[in-house]
Amino acid sequence: MNENVLEMVDIVKIFPGVVANDRVNFSLKAGEIHALLGENGAGKTTLMNILYGIYKMDSGVIKVDGRAVSIRSPRDAIKLGIGMVHQNFKLVPAHTVVENIILGSENNGFILDLKKSSEKIKNLASSFGLKVDPFSEVWKLSMGERQRVEILKLLYRNVRIMIFDEPTAVLTPQEKKELFSSLKEMSSKGKSIIFITHKLDEVLEISDRVTVLRRGKNVATKITKETNKFELANLMIGRPIIFEYSKNPPKLSGLALKVENVRVLDEEGNLRLKDVSFSLSGGEIVGVAGIAGNGQRELAEAITGLRHVSSGKVFVRGKDLTNASPRRFFENGVLFIPEERLGVGTAPNLSVAENLVLKSYDNSPFSNSVFLKFDAIQKFAEMLVKDFEILCPSVKVPVKFLSGGNLQKVVLARELGNLVSRDVNVIVAMYPTRGLDVGATEYVRRLLLKMRDQGNAIIFFSEDLEEILSISDRIFVMFDGRIVGEMDSSKADVEKIGLMMAGSIAS
Ligand SMILES: Nc1ncnc2c1ncn2[C@@H]1O[C@H](COP(=O)(O)OP(=O)(O)O)[C@@H](O)[C@H]1O
Ligand SMILES: [Mg+2]
Repeated sequence: MNENVLEMVDIVKIFPGVVANDRVNFSLKAGEIHALLGENGAGKTTLMNILYGIYKMDSGVIKVDGRAVSIRSPRDAIKLGIGMVHQNFKLVPAHTVVENIILGSENNGFILDLKKSSEKIKNLASSFGLKVDPFSEVWKLSMGERQRVEILKLLYRNVRIMIFDEPTAVLTPQEKKELFSSLKEMSSKGKSIIFITHKLDEVLEISDRVTVLRRGKNVATKITKETNKFELANLMIGRPIIFEYSKNPPKLSGLALKVENVRVLDEEGNLRLKDVSFSLSGGEIVGVAGIAGNGQRELAEAITGLRHVSSGKVFVRGKDLTNASPRRFFENGVLFIPEERLGVGTAPNLSVAENLVLKSYDNSPFSNSVFLKFDAIQKFAEMLVKDFEILCPSVKVPVKFLSGGNLQKVVLARELGNLVSRDVNVIVAMYPTRGLDVGATEYVRRLLLKMRDQGNAIIFFSEDLEEILSISDRIFVMFDGRIVGEMDSSKADVEKIGLMMAGSIAS
Protein backbone atom coordinates (compact mmCIF):
# COMPACT_ATOMS: atom_id res chain seq x y z
CA MET A 1 0.00 0.00 0.00
CA ASN A 2 3.02 2.29 0.22
CA GLU A 3 4.36 1.84 -3.27
CA ASN A 4 3.44 4.51 -5.76
CA VAL A 5 2.07 2.91 -8.91
CA LEU A 6 1.96 6.31 -10.53
CA GLU A 7 3.79 9.59 -10.16
CA MET A 8 3.13 12.74 -12.15
CA VAL A 9 5.91 15.26 -11.57
CA ASP A 10 5.84 18.98 -12.37
CA ILE A 11 3.26 18.64 -15.11
CA VAL A 12 2.78 21.80 -17.17
CA LYS A 13 0.08 22.30 -19.79
CA ILE A 14 -0.58 25.65 -21.41
CA PHE A 15 -3.59 26.49 -23.55
CA PRO A 16 -3.84 29.82 -25.35
CA GLY A 17 -4.38 32.35 -22.58
CA VAL A 18 -4.42 29.90 -19.68
CA VAL A 19 -1.97 27.72 -17.77
CA ALA A 20 -4.25 24.75 -17.19
CA ASN A 21 -1.63 22.80 -15.22
CA ASP A 22 1.14 24.73 -13.54
CA ARG A 23 3.79 22.29 -12.23
CA VAL A 24 1.25 19.87 -10.85
CA ASN A 25 2.40 16.89 -8.80
CA PHE A 26 0.25 13.87 -8.21
CA SER A 27 0.93 10.37 -6.95
CA LEU A 28 -1.16 7.25 -6.63
CA LYS A 29 -0.70 4.15 -4.51
CA ALA A 30 -1.81 0.61 -5.29
CA GLY A 31 -5.36 -0.02 -4.16
CA GLU A 32 -6.17 3.52 -3.10
CA ILE A 33 -9.05 5.75 -4.09
CA HIS A 34 -7.53 9.16 -4.61
CA ALA A 35 -9.88 12.09 -5.13
CA LEU A 36 -8.82 14.95 -7.38
CA LEU A 37 -10.77 17.94 -6.10
CA GLY A 38 -11.12 21.40 -7.56
CA GLU A 39 -13.58 23.98 -8.79
CA ASN A 40 -14.66 24.07 -12.41
CA GLY A 41 -11.69 25.11 -14.50
CA ALA A 42 -9.10 24.07 -11.90
CA GLY A 43 -7.34 21.79 -14.38
CA LYS A 44 -8.49 18.34 -13.25
CA THR A 45 -9.65 17.01 -16.60
CA THR A 46 -6.58 18.43 -18.32
CA LEU A 47 -4.23 16.62 -15.94
CA MET A 48 -6.03 13.33 -16.50
CA ASN A 49 -6.25 13.82 -20.26
CA ILE A 50 -2.47 14.11 -20.18
CA LEU A 51 -2.18 10.90 -18.21
CA TYR A 52 -4.50 9.15 -20.64
CA GLY A 53 -2.55 10.35 -23.69
CA ILE A 54 -5.21 12.70 -25.06
CA TYR A 55 -3.23 15.90 -24.46
CA LYS A 56 0.51 16.29 -24.78
CA MET A 57 2.07 18.00 -21.78
CA ASP A 58 4.41 20.96 -22.29
CA SER A 59 6.76 19.65 -19.65
CA GLY A 60 6.88 17.22 -16.76
CA VAL A 61 7.49 13.54 -16.09
CA ILE A 62 5.11 10.63 -15.72
CA LYS A 63 6.34 7.51 -13.95
CA VAL A 64 4.55 4.18 -13.81
CA ASP A 65 5.94 1.75 -11.24
CA GLY A 66 8.86 4.09 -10.77
CA ARG A 67 9.80 4.12 -14.45
CA ALA A 68 9.49 7.22 -16.65
CA VAL A 69 7.09 6.55 -19.50
CA SER A 70 5.92 8.29 -22.61
CA ILE A 71 2.17 8.30 -23.19
CA ARG A 72 1.24 9.58 -26.65
CA SER A 73 -2.22 8.12 -27.04
CA PRO A 74 -4.92 6.32 -25.08
CA ARG A 75 -3.52 3.17 -26.64
CA ASP A 76 -0.18 3.76 -24.92
CA ALA A 77 -2.03 4.45 -21.68
CA ILE A 78 -4.04 1.23 -21.87
CA LYS A 79 -0.84 -0.75 -22.54
CA LEU A 80 0.53 0.68 -19.30
CA GLY A 81 -2.63 -0.33 -17.49
CA ILE A 82 -4.19 3.14 -17.34
CA GLY A 83 -7.81 3.70 -18.35
CA MET A 84 -10.30 6.55 -18.17
CA VAL A 85 -14.06 6.86 -17.89
CA HIS A 86 -14.87 10.24 -19.41
CA GLN A 87 -17.54 12.75 -18.50
CA ASN A 88 -19.23 12.00 -21.82
CA PHE A 89 -19.28 8.36 -22.70
CA LYS A 90 -17.74 7.22 -25.94
CA LEU A 91 -19.74 4.11 -26.76
CA VAL A 92 -21.28 3.11 -30.08
CA PRO A 93 -25.04 3.27 -29.44
CA ALA A 94 -26.08 0.76 -32.13
CA HIS A 95 -23.66 -1.91 -30.89
CA THR A 96 -24.29 -4.31 -28.07
CA VAL A 97 -22.56 -4.14 -24.73
CA VAL A 98 -20.22 -7.01 -25.64
CA GLU A 99 -19.35 -5.48 -28.99
CA ASN A 100 -18.58 -2.16 -27.35
CA ILE A 101 -16.37 -3.78 -24.77
CA ILE A 102 -14.28 -5.88 -27.12
CA LEU A 103 -14.22 -3.24 -29.85
CA GLY A 104 -10.66 -2.05 -30.31
CA SER A 105 -9.14 -4.41 -27.81
CA GLU A 106 -6.29 -6.54 -29.19
CA ASN A 107 -8.32 -9.41 -30.44
CA ASN A 108 -8.02 -11.14 -33.78
CA GLY A 109 -10.87 -13.63 -33.83
CA PHE A 110 -13.57 -11.02 -33.15
CA ILE A 111 -16.65 -13.06 -34.04
CA LEU A 112 -15.38 -16.41 -32.78
CA ASP A 113 -14.51 -14.94 -29.45
CA LEU A 114 -17.92 -13.40 -28.84
CA LYS A 115 -19.07 -16.26 -26.66
CA LYS A 116 -15.86 -16.46 -24.67
CA SER A 117 -15.76 -12.69 -24.32
CA SER A 118 -19.29 -12.46 -23.04
CA GLU A 119 -18.46 -15.07 -20.42
CA LYS A 120 -15.48 -13.04 -19.30
CA ILE A 121 -17.60 -9.89 -19.21
CA LYS A 122 -20.27 -11.62 -17.16
CA ASN A 123 -17.66 -12.74 -14.67
CA LEU A 124 -16.17 -9.28 -14.37
CA ALA A 125 -19.61 -7.75 -14.01
CA SER A 126 -20.62 -10.06 -11.20
CA SER A 127 -17.35 -9.81 -9.29
CA PHE A 128 -17.46 -5.98 -9.28
CA GLY A 129 -21.21 -5.54 -8.92
CA LEU A 130 -21.66 -3.95 -12.35
CA LYS A 131 -25.09 -5.14 -13.45
CA VAL A 132 -25.71 -4.90 -17.19
CA ASP A 133 -27.07 -7.18 -19.93
CA PRO A 134 -24.14 -8.04 -22.26
CA PHE A 135 -26.42 -8.46 -25.28
CA SER A 136 -28.42 -5.30 -24.95
CA GLU A 137 -27.74 -2.53 -27.45
CA VAL A 138 -26.16 0.47 -25.79
CA TRP A 139 -28.79 3.01 -26.91
CA LYS A 140 -31.32 1.18 -24.77
CA LEU A 141 -29.29 1.62 -21.59
CA SER A 142 -29.60 4.24 -18.85
CA MET A 143 -26.68 6.57 -18.17
CA GLY A 144 -25.76 4.48 -15.14
CA GLU A 145 -25.65 1.31 -17.23
CA ARG A 146 -23.58 3.01 -19.93
CA GLN A 147 -21.10 4.02 -17.29
CA ARG A 148 -20.89 0.40 -16.17
CA VAL A 149 -20.10 -0.61 -19.76
CA GLU A 150 -17.26 1.93 -19.80
CA ILE A 151 -15.93 0.49 -16.57
CA LEU A 152 -16.21 -3.08 -17.84
CA LYS A 153 -14.33 -2.03 -20.95
CA LEU A 154 -11.42 -0.97 -18.76
CA LEU A 155 -11.56 -4.06 -16.57
CA TYR A 156 -11.69 -6.23 -19.70
CA ARG A 157 -8.42 -4.66 -20.80
CA ASN A 158 -6.90 -5.39 -17.42
CA VAL A 159 -6.43 -1.77 -16.55
CA ARG A 160 -5.17 -1.24 -12.98
CA ILE A 161 -5.17 2.56 -12.80
CA MET A 162 -8.69 3.81 -13.37
CA ILE A 163 -9.59 7.45 -13.87
CA PHE A 164 -13.18 8.61 -13.30
CA ASP A 165 -13.99 12.14 -14.44
CA GLU A 166 -16.94 13.47 -12.39
CA PRO A 167 -18.68 10.10 -12.62
CA THR A 168 -21.66 10.98 -10.44
CA ALA A 169 -22.81 13.94 -12.53
CA VAL A 170 -25.01 11.72 -14.70
CA LEU A 171 -26.24 9.33 -12.02
CA THR A 172 -29.36 9.02 -9.89
CA PRO A 173 -28.76 8.77 -6.13
CA GLN A 174 -29.37 5.02 -6.30
CA GLU A 175 -26.90 4.54 -9.18
CA LYS A 176 -24.37 6.62 -7.30
CA LYS A 177 -24.58 4.28 -4.33
CA GLU A 178 -24.00 1.32 -6.63
CA LEU A 179 -21.04 3.01 -8.29
CA PHE A 180 -19.46 3.75 -4.92
CA SER A 181 -19.74 0.15 -3.83
CA SER A 182 -18.19 -1.01 -7.13
CA LEU A 183 -15.34 1.47 -6.64
CA LYS A 184 -14.69 0.07 -3.17
CA GLU A 185 -14.76 -3.45 -4.58
CA MET A 186 -12.25 -2.52 -7.28
CA SER A 187 -9.87 -0.87 -4.85
CA SER A 188 -10.07 -3.81 -2.48
CA LYS A 189 -9.00 -6.00 -5.40
CA GLY A 190 -5.92 -3.87 -5.96
CA LYS A 191 -7.10 -1.37 -8.58
CA SER A 192 -5.94 2.20 -8.03
CA ILE A 193 -8.63 4.77 -8.60
CA ILE A 194 -8.49 8.46 -9.41
CA PHE A 195 -11.84 10.07 -8.67
CA ILE A 196 -12.36 13.57 -10.07
CA THR A 197 -15.01 15.69 -8.42
CA HIS A 198 -15.87 19.17 -7.21
CA LYS A 199 -18.17 17.83 -4.51
CA LEU A 200 -16.83 17.79 -0.97
CA ASP A 201 -19.27 15.21 0.33
CA GLU A 202 -18.18 12.73 -2.31
CA VAL A 203 -14.53 13.20 -1.41
CA LEU A 204 -15.27 12.52 2.24
CA GLU A 205 -17.44 9.53 1.45
CA ILE A 206 -15.31 7.61 -1.04
CA SER A 207 -11.64 8.58 -0.98
CA ASP A 208 -8.56 7.49 0.97
CA ARG A 209 -6.57 10.57 0.01
CA VAL A 210 -7.40 13.80 -1.76
CA THR A 211 -5.34 16.15 -3.89
CA VAL A 212 -6.70 19.66 -4.32
CA LEU A 213 -6.09 21.77 -7.43
CA ARG A 214 -6.80 25.48 -7.61
CA ARG A 215 -6.40 27.48 -10.81
CA GLY A 216 -4.05 24.92 -12.28
CA LYS A 217 -1.86 24.59 -9.20
CA ASN A 218 -1.51 21.93 -6.52
CA VAL A 219 -2.60 23.26 -3.20
CA ALA A 220 -2.47 20.16 -1.02
CA THR A 221 -2.67 16.41 -0.70
CA LYS A 222 -4.44 15.17 2.44
CA ILE A 223 -5.40 11.91 4.03
CA THR A 224 -9.18 12.08 3.86
CA LYS A 225 -9.70 10.87 7.42
CA GLU A 226 -7.52 13.70 8.68
CA THR A 227 -9.36 16.53 6.96
CA ASN A 228 -12.90 17.90 6.83
CA LYS A 229 -15.37 19.81 4.71
CA PHE A 230 -14.25 23.23 5.95
CA GLU A 231 -10.57 22.67 5.36
CA LEU A 232 -11.18 21.18 1.91
CA ALA A 233 -13.47 24.03 0.88
CA ASN A 234 -10.90 26.53 2.02
CA LEU A 235 -8.16 24.79 0.06
CA MET A 236 -10.31 24.48 -3.02
CA ILE A 237 -11.62 28.05 -3.12
CA GLY A 238 -8.73 29.83 -1.46
CA ARG A 239 -10.85 31.38 1.27
CA PRO A 240 -13.10 30.12 4.04
CA ILE A 241 -16.56 29.09 2.92
CA ILE A 242 -19.76 29.83 4.76
CA PHE A 243 -22.09 26.87 4.97
CA GLU A 244 -24.46 28.81 7.18
CA TYR A 245 -25.43 32.38 6.47
CA SER A 246 -25.97 34.99 9.10
CA LYS A 247 -28.69 37.35 8.00
CA ASN A 248 -29.77 40.73 9.21
CA PRO A 249 -33.49 40.97 9.87
CA PRO A 250 -35.25 42.19 6.71
CA LYS A 251 -35.81 45.93 6.34
CA LEU A 252 -38.98 46.05 4.30
CA SER A 253 -39.30 49.02 1.98
CA GLY A 254 -42.75 48.91 0.44
CA LEU A 255 -44.61 46.75 -2.00
CA ALA A 256 -42.53 45.75 -5.02
CA LEU A 257 -44.56 43.00 -6.64
CA LYS A 258 -48.19 42.06 -6.31
CA VAL A 259 -49.69 39.03 -8.00
CA GLU A 260 -53.48 38.63 -7.92
CA ASN A 261 -55.34 35.45 -8.84
CA VAL A 262 -53.06 34.65 -11.72
CA ARG A 263 -53.95 31.78 -13.98
CA VAL A 264 -51.80 30.39 -16.75
CA LEU A 265 -52.74 27.85 -19.39
CA ASP A 266 -50.20 25.70 -21.23
CA GLU A 267 -50.15 24.99 -24.97
CA GLU A 268 -52.71 22.22 -24.60
CA GLY A 269 -55.06 24.42 -22.62
CA ASN A 270 -54.33 22.80 -19.24
CA LEU A 271 -54.38 25.06 -16.23
CA ARG A 272 -50.80 25.24 -14.93
CA LEU A 273 -51.16 28.12 -12.48
CA LYS A 274 -54.37 28.12 -10.48
CA ASP A 275 -55.24 31.45 -8.89
CA VAL A 276 -51.85 32.32 -7.52
CA SER A 277 -51.74 35.43 -5.31
CA PHE A 278 -48.95 36.88 -3.23
CA SER A 279 -47.03 40.05 -2.64
CA LEU A 280 -43.36 40.77 -2.26
CA SER A 281 -41.72 43.76 -0.59
CA GLY A 282 -38.45 45.45 -1.22
CA GLY A 283 -35.82 44.17 1.19
CA GLU A 284 -37.09 40.62 1.47
CA ILE A 285 -36.14 37.36 -0.11
CA VAL A 286 -38.68 34.64 -0.71
CA GLY A 287 -37.67 31.08 -1.54
CA VAL A 288 -40.10 28.91 -3.46
CA ALA A 289 -39.83 25.20 -2.71
CA GLY A 290 -41.41 22.48 -4.77
CA ILE A 291 -40.77 19.53 -6.99
CA ALA A 292 -40.03 20.75 -10.53
CA GLY A 293 -43.07 20.84 -12.77
CA ASN A 294 -45.58 22.14 -10.25
CA GLY A 295 -45.96 25.55 -11.84
CA GLN A 296 -42.67 27.17 -10.81
CA ARG A 297 -41.57 27.91 -14.34
CA GLU A 298 -45.01 29.24 -15.30
CA LEU A 299 -45.05 31.51 -12.26
CA ALA A 300 -41.56 32.87 -12.94
CA GLU A 301 -42.48 33.49 -16.56
CA ALA A 302 -45.81 35.12 -15.70
CA ILE A 303 -44.09 37.71 -13.49
CA THR A 304 -41.38 38.53 -16.03
CA GLY A 305 -43.56 38.90 -19.13
CA LEU A 306 -42.39 35.67 -20.72
CA ARG A 307 -45.71 33.89 -20.43
CA HIS A 308 -49.26 34.99 -21.21
CA VAL A 309 -51.52 35.21 -18.19
CA SER A 310 -55.08 34.09 -18.96
CA SER A 311 -56.60 35.87 -15.99
CA GLY A 312 -55.45 37.79 -12.93
CA LYS A 313 -53.12 40.75 -12.48
CA VAL A 314 -49.42 41.44 -12.04
CA PHE A 315 -48.38 44.77 -10.53
CA VAL A 316 -44.82 45.99 -10.29
CA ARG A 317 -44.38 48.86 -7.83
CA GLY A 318 -48.06 49.66 -8.23
CA LYS A 319 -48.01 49.65 -12.02
CA ASP A 320 -50.21 47.14 -13.82
CA LEU A 321 -47.91 45.14 -16.10
CA THR A 322 -50.20 42.18 -16.73
CA ASN A 323 -49.18 40.65 -20.07
CA ALA A 324 -46.66 43.39 -20.80
CA SER A 325 -43.59 42.40 -22.82
CA PRO A 326 -40.44 41.07 -21.13
CA ARG A 327 -38.77 44.29 -22.20
CA ARG A 328 -41.31 46.40 -20.29
CA PHE A 329 -40.91 44.25 -17.22
CA PHE A 330 -37.16 44.75 -17.51
CA GLU A 331 -37.54 48.50 -17.93
CA ASN A 332 -39.66 48.53 -14.79
CA GLY A 333 -36.91 46.87 -12.82
CA VAL A 334 -37.86 43.20 -13.07
CA LEU A 335 -34.72 41.17 -13.56
CA PHE A 336 -34.84 37.53 -14.56
CA ILE A 337 -32.14 34.96 -13.95
CA PRO A 338 -33.18 32.03 -16.12
CA GLU A 339 -32.67 28.38 -15.48
CA GLU A 340 -31.06 27.60 -18.78
CA ARG A 341 -27.66 29.23 -19.04
CA LEU A 342 -26.81 28.33 -22.62
CA GLY A 343 -29.66 29.12 -24.96
CA VAL A 344 -32.01 31.54 -23.23
CA GLY A 345 -29.31 32.53 -20.77
CA THR A 346 -26.45 33.30 -23.11
CA ALA A 347 -25.48 33.40 -26.77
CA PRO A 348 -22.77 30.71 -26.92
CA ASN A 349 -20.80 32.10 -29.86
CA LEU A 350 -20.71 35.68 -28.66
CA SER A 351 -17.93 36.86 -26.40
CA VAL A 352 -18.13 37.33 -22.66
CA ALA A 353 -18.27 41.09 -23.22
CA GLU A 354 -21.06 40.86 -25.77
CA ASN A 355 -23.07 38.57 -23.53
CA LEU A 356 -22.67 40.96 -20.63
CA VAL A 357 -24.34 43.79 -22.54
CA LEU A 358 -26.89 41.69 -24.43
CA LYS A 359 -29.87 43.43 -22.89
CA SER A 360 -28.60 46.95 -22.68
CA TYR A 361 -27.08 47.04 -26.18
CA ASP A 362 -29.31 49.67 -27.72
CA ASN A 363 -29.01 52.06 -24.79
CA SER A 364 -26.17 54.46 -24.38
CA PRO A 365 -23.37 54.35 -23.30
CA PHE A 366 -22.84 51.26 -25.41
CA SER A 367 -24.18 52.40 -28.72
CA ASN A 368 -24.69 55.50 -30.76
CA SER A 369 -27.64 54.21 -32.74
CA VAL A 370 -25.69 52.28 -35.36
CA PHE A 371 -22.29 51.42 -33.97
CA LEU A 372 -21.65 49.64 -30.75
CA LYS A 373 -19.05 51.37 -28.68
CA PHE A 374 -16.53 48.61 -28.30
CA ASP A 375 -14.30 50.41 -25.83
CA ALA A 376 -17.15 51.15 -23.48
CA ILE A 377 -18.42 47.60 -23.73
CA GLN A 378 -15.01 46.17 -23.03
CA LYS A 379 -14.40 48.39 -19.99
CA PHE A 380 -17.82 47.64 -18.56
CA ALA A 381 -17.33 43.91 -19.15
CA GLU A 382 -13.94 43.91 -17.49
CA MET A 383 -15.42 45.60 -14.46
CA LEU A 384 -18.16 42.98 -14.17
CA VAL A 385 -15.70 40.12 -14.70
CA LYS A 386 -13.75 41.43 -11.76
CA ASP A 387 -16.75 42.14 -9.52
CA PHE A 388 -18.38 38.81 -10.17
CA GLU A 389 -15.15 36.80 -10.07
CA ILE A 390 -15.77 35.36 -13.55
CA LEU A 391 -12.87 33.16 -14.55
CA CYS A 392 -12.02 33.68 -18.24
CA PRO A 393 -8.81 34.33 -20.16
CA SER A 394 -10.28 37.53 -21.64
CA VAL A 395 -13.66 39.19 -22.15
CA LYS A 396 -13.27 38.46 -25.87
CA VAL A 397 -13.56 34.69 -25.47
CA PRO A 398 -16.85 33.16 -26.68
CA VAL A 399 -18.88 32.11 -23.66
CA LYS A 400 -19.24 28.56 -24.92
CA PHE A 401 -15.67 27.97 -23.72
CA LEU A 402 -16.52 28.87 -20.12
CA SER A 403 -17.31 26.30 -17.45
CA GLY A 404 -20.88 25.99 -16.13
CA GLY A 405 -20.18 27.97 -12.99
CA ASN A 406 -18.60 30.82 -14.85
CA LEU A 407 -21.39 30.84 -17.39
CA GLN A 408 -23.90 31.24 -14.57
CA LYS A 409 -21.88 34.16 -13.25
CA VAL A 410 -22.05 35.81 -16.68
CA VAL A 411 -25.83 35.56 -16.59
CA LEU A 412 -25.94 36.90 -13.04
CA ALA A 413 -23.57 39.72 -13.84
CA ARG A 414 -25.60 40.68 -16.88
CA GLU A 415 -28.84 40.75 -14.91
CA LEU A 416 -27.53 42.27 -11.73
CA GLY A 417 -24.48 44.19 -12.84
CA ASN A 418 -26.09 47.51 -13.64
CA LEU A 419 -28.46 47.41 -10.72
CA VAL A 420 -26.63 50.00 -8.71
CA SER A 421 -28.10 52.83 -10.66
CA ARG A 422 -31.70 51.75 -10.32
CA ASP A 423 -34.47 51.93 -7.70
CA VAL A 424 -35.87 48.91 -5.98
CA ASN A 425 -35.85 45.97 -8.31
CA VAL A 426 -37.67 42.69 -8.41
CA ILE A 427 -35.25 39.85 -8.97
CA VAL A 428 -36.66 36.55 -10.16
CA ALA A 429 -34.12 33.74 -10.02
CA MET A 430 -34.72 30.21 -11.26
CA TYR A 431 -32.56 27.56 -9.60
CA PRO A 432 -29.71 30.07 -9.29
CA THR A 433 -27.14 27.62 -7.92
CA ARG A 434 -28.08 24.44 -9.75
CA GLY A 435 -25.00 22.71 -11.12
CA LEU A 436 -22.59 25.16 -9.50
CA ASP A 437 -19.61 24.15 -7.43
CA VAL A 438 -19.26 25.06 -3.77
CA GLY A 439 -17.49 28.36 -4.26
CA ALA A 440 -19.82 29.63 -6.94
CA THR A 441 -22.87 28.49 -4.95
CA GLU A 442 -21.78 30.38 -1.89
CA TYR A 443 -20.99 33.40 -4.02
CA VAL A 444 -24.45 33.44 -5.58
CA ARG A 445 -26.20 33.04 -2.23
CA ARG A 446 -24.21 35.86 -0.70
CA LEU A 447 -24.96 37.98 -3.74
CA LEU A 448 -28.71 37.42 -3.41
CA LEU A 449 -28.52 38.35 0.27
CA LYS A 450 -26.57 41.48 -0.59
CA MET A 451 -29.15 42.45 -3.20
CA ARG A 452 -31.85 41.98 -0.57
CA ASP A 453 -29.97 44.14 1.91
CA GLN A 454 -29.76 46.84 -0.75
CA GLY A 455 -33.56 46.93 -0.77
CA ASN A 456 -34.39 44.70 -3.73
CA ALA A 457 -37.29 42.27 -3.66
CA ILE A 458 -36.15 38.77 -4.46
CA ILE A 459 -38.04 35.63 -5.30
CA PHE A 460 -36.05 32.53 -6.13
CA PHE A 461 -36.97 28.99 -7.02
CA SER A 462 -34.93 26.07 -5.75
CA GLU A 463 -35.07 22.32 -5.34
CA ASP A 464 -32.56 22.52 -2.52
CA LEU A 465 -34.39 22.87 0.79
CA GLU A 466 -31.22 23.63 2.67
CA GLU A 467 -30.63 26.55 0.36
CA ILE A 468 -34.18 27.81 0.78
CA LEU A 469 -33.96 27.58 4.55
CA SER A 470 -30.57 29.23 4.71
CA ILE A 471 -31.25 32.42 2.77
CA SER A 472 -35.01 33.08 2.62
CA ASP A 473 -37.07 35.36 4.85
CA ARG A 474 -40.29 33.73 3.77
CA ILE A 475 -40.88 30.38 2.14
CA PHE A 476 -43.58 29.41 -0.35
CA VAL A 477 -44.31 25.83 -1.27
CA MET A 478 -45.78 25.10 -4.70
CA PHE A 479 -47.75 22.05 -5.61
CA ASP A 480 -49.97 21.43 -8.61
CA GLY A 481 -50.08 25.01 -9.81
CA ARG A 482 -50.79 26.55 -6.43
CA ILE A 483 -48.92 28.06 -3.54
CA VAL A 484 -49.99 25.50 -0.94
CA GLY A 485 -47.90 26.78 1.91
CA GLU A 486 -46.39 30.02 3.09
CA MET A 487 -44.30 30.50 6.21
CA ASP A 488 -41.67 32.54 7.90
CA SER A 489 -38.33 30.83 7.47
CA SER A 490 -37.57 31.22 11.16
CA LYS A 491 -40.60 29.03 11.86
CA ALA A 492 -40.10 26.63 8.98
CA ASP A 493 -40.33 22.93 9.56
CA VAL A 494 -38.56 20.75 6.98
CA GLU A 495 -40.83 17.79 7.49
CA LYS A 496 -43.90 19.90 6.94
CA ILE A 497 -42.45 21.49 3.81
CA GLY A 498 -41.69 18.01 2.48
CA LEU A 499 -45.29 16.93 2.98
CA MET A 500 -46.56 20.09 1.30
CA MET A 501 -44.25 19.48 -1.66
CA ALA A 502 -45.78 16.05 -2.04
CA GLY A 503 -49.27 17.53 -1.91
CA SER A 504 -50.14 15.73 1.34
CA ILE A 505 -51.00 18.80 3.39
CA ALA A 506 -51.68 22.48 2.94
CA SER A 507 -51.05 25.18 5.50
N1 LIG B 1 -8.96 22.06 -25.20
C1 LIG B 1 -8.83 23.22 -24.54
N2 LIG B 1 -8.51 24.37 -25.17
C2 LIG B 1 -8.37 25.53 -24.51
N3 LIG B 1 -8.52 25.68 -23.18
C3 LIG B 1 -8.84 24.58 -22.48
C4 LIG B 1 -9.02 23.29 -23.11
N4 LIG B 1 -9.34 22.38 -22.16
C5 LIG B 1 -9.35 23.06 -21.00
N5 LIG B 1 -9.06 24.37 -21.18
C6 LIG B 1 -8.95 25.40 -20.13
O1 LIG B 1 -8.06 24.91 -19.14
C7 LIG B 1 -8.53 25.21 -17.84
C8 LIG B 1 -8.71 23.93 -17.05
O2 LIG B 1 -9.80 23.20 -17.59
P1 LIG B 1 -10.19 21.75 -17.12
O3 LIG B 1 -8.99 20.89 -17.04
O4 LIG B 1 -11.29 21.27 -18.00
O5 LIG B 1 -10.76 22.02 -15.65
P2 LIG B 1 -11.64 21.10 -14.67
O6 LIG B 1 -11.70 19.72 -15.25
O7 LIG B 1 -10.94 21.17 -13.36
O8 LIG B 1 -12.99 21.75 -14.60
C9 LIG B 1 -9.81 26.00 -18.02
O9 LIG B 1 -9.49 27.37 -17.94
C10 LIG B 1 -10.26 25.62 -19.41
O10 LIG B 1 -11.02 26.66 -19.99
MG1 LIG C 1 -13.40 18.68 -15.82
